[in-house]
This record gives sequence, C-alpha cells and structure tokens, in this order.
Amino acid sequence: MTYIVDSHAHLNDRQFRNDIDGAVERAAEAGVKKIICPGFDIPSSRRAVQIAERYGGVWAAVGIHPHDAAKMNAGALAEIRELAQHPKVVALGEMGLDFYRDLSPRPVQEEAFRAQLALAGELGLPVIIHDRDAGPSALRVILDVGTPAAGGVMHCFSGDVDYALKVVELGFHIGIAGPVTFGKNETLRAVVRRVPEDRLLVETDAPYLTPEPFRSRRRNEPALVRVVAEKVAEVKNRTLDDIAQMTSANAESLFGLDRGSSP
Ligand code: NI
Repeated sequence: MTYIVDSHAHLNDRQFRNDIDGAVERAAEAGVKKIICPGFDIPSSRRAVQIAERYGGVWAAVGIHPHDAAKMNAGALAEIRELAQHPKVVALGEMGLDFYRDLSPRPVQEEAFRAQLALAGELGLPVIIHDRDAGPSALRVILDVGTPAAGGVMHCFSGDVDYALKVVELGFHIGIAGPVTFGKNETLRAVVRRVPEDRLLVETDAPYLTPEPFRSRRRNEPALVRVVAEKVAEVKNRTLDDIAQMTSANAESLFGLDRGSSP
C-alpha cells in the first residue's frame, strides 16, 4: 500500500517525551512514513526542529499557537524566522485564532496570526492554521494579509461545507483529523465529501483527538492517522489506498517534502 502522511502530530508534546522512537516506529509499521510536527510556542518549535533532525520521516513547522499568542513579540518572530531557515522546516505554524477557549485576548491572537501569516508570505513557506470558532475573523485576517504564495492548511478542520469551500477558494487545503470518526459529526463527513480531492489532507493532531473506536482508551499518535484515512475512504466510497495516495501527494506538494529529506 502507498504510505500515509500524518500532516499534523505534536511529537514535541511532553506526552511523547519518552516515546518518540516508539511512536515513529509504530507509525511506520502502520504505513505512516511521513509526519509533520508543528510547534506551538518557541521551545516546542525548537524541539520540533530537533526531532526532524533525528528522524528522516519527520519534518517540522515553527510558530506560535493562538493559546500562546501572548508570547509573541519581536524576539519570538525573529526566532521563528531563524528556525525557518532549517532545511527540514517546511511550514510556519501552527498559528491562528481560537475563540472557543480564548486563552489569549482576541486582539493579541489576531496580531500574532497576522505577523506569522505575513512572515510566511515573505519566506515563501506554507502555513498551518488553527481556527476554532473564529471563522469570520480568520477569513478577514487572511483576506487582509493575503494567502501566502505557498498556500497552507486549515488544520483539524471544524467548520461546515460553506466555510470549507471558502477556505479552499482562498487557496488552502483542509486537514481532516479524528473528529471525522466521531458518531455525531455528520458536518465534517459532509465536508470530506465536498472538498476537492487535491485539497484534502489527513492528520492526527496527536496527542489529542484520538479517533474512534480508541477515543476514550488511549493517547493519540501518528499510527492512528490510518484510522482517519480509513474513515475518509469509507465516507468517499473509495479504497484506503486511493485516499493514502491522494492525501500523501497533496501533503508532499504542499510542504515540499522532498526538501531536506534524509534517510
Ligand atoms: Ni496542533
């Protein structure tokens, strides 16, 4: 079978501290051969780069999550810029807006999002966007700053079909995570059916959002992106191999995964 790309897994999270080797091995056994590891603040971005240096099949993204937007300042932005020079950094992120948990004041979130979006445009890198209950504001910022030429992904997508099609229209990919397996989530399954096939990605967002039927029983990890891909295949009435091939090709072209690859 074609391999699967987990386009979003936080191997830099402390829950993986003693288990990165194991998580990468189990992923490979499940056919998950490439993993994108996004930062959420400066230390986790540095750590994502270190992990990507150690594993041929892991690439890093660097950025500041909306929860940590208060940590954004000129020094942090300069460090993101510097980390982004590393050959295994393939995107800026995650960045964005989270009006569900509101862990940073909204104007502060928006400022950090704008700064990173603009930087990605300047550096020619794609972006990984986190958007929770903030659709209209996220669209306003994107329209204002402009979609980076290299595009990006709205990761762990949680909106409806209309919003997904707007995001696609603006040049972004849609990242489908574990919630597509949740019993009540017909909205996300409708999104999977409607998004153009060349814009779909799959991801775990590990260690969070474990897919069903493992949801209440274990920590999420990259191997389980296979379960997400299986659900996408079922929803689209396609084979797992089709979905693996399609989403891997999409991830590779978006993130330029041939760059900086090593054994
Ligand atoms: Ni994430």
